[in-house]
Amino acid sequence: MKINTAEFVISNSEVKKCPNSPLPEYAFIGRSNVGKSSLINMLTNNKNLAKTSSKPGKTQLINHFLINKNWHLVDLPGYGYAKVSKSIKNSFQKFITNYFENREQLTCAFVLVDIRHEAQKIDIDFINYLGEAGVPFGIVFTKADKIGKTIIQKNVAAYKKKLLEVGWEETPPMFVTSSENQTGKEELLNYIDEINQMVFKGQ
Ligand code: GTP
Ligand code: MG
Repeated sequence: MKINTAEFVISNSEVKKCPNSPLPEYAFIGRSNVGKSSLINMLTNNKNLAKTSSKPGKTQLINHFLINKNWHLVDLPGYGYAKVSKSIKNSFQKFITNYFENREQLTCAFVLVDIRHEAQKIDIDFINYLGEAGVPFGIVFTKADKIGKTIIQKNVAAYKKKLLEVGWEETPPMFVTSSENQTGKEELLNYIDEINQMVFKGQ
């Protein structure tokens, strides 16, 4: 799929105020600093669309971007950022879980994990939460430019093994990406396109 237009729509902490449109949407979630906003910019060929930072905690709201005028990409705040206070953490978590549990347009979530590290408890917990909440999801490995191909394959295989160990019967779709060198762009966009085709057909 080619992205011709990508426009910022609105930022929110309230699911009720997210765009009142039936368009399918795809949300990026994961630890702070994992590269959610950078990935949105890479996919849309626009370095300035989503705000990024080398410091964790940059994205603090639910951000909707309208793509090709017929679907939404959603940038979310990261979880697991140690420096925010407990009360901020709680309110963050509330609107994130609210989003995942109540946003009917959410078609698929992508959980981003840093390809360099072995499976972290916080990510596995979130993946299990999505499973329990019945949200379809894929896993997107980020920062693949930072390690070699062999280690990438080894780490992806280890991640699959971990998911099977914690009780998943099959593993979700997985994508290896780099926002630095555009790895995985076609695969991820084609996957979204396939789902969009099914959604639009069913309407
Ligand atoms: P929060 O909004 O704070 O939750 O972070 P985020 O997940 O949106 O991360 P963001 O996209 O802001 O990127 C965090 C840092 O990682 C920035 O310094 C990016 O330049 C860097 N980064 C993101 N993706 C990649 C990548 O694929 N490769 C490399 N080398 N750096 C990356
Ligand atoms: Mg961000």
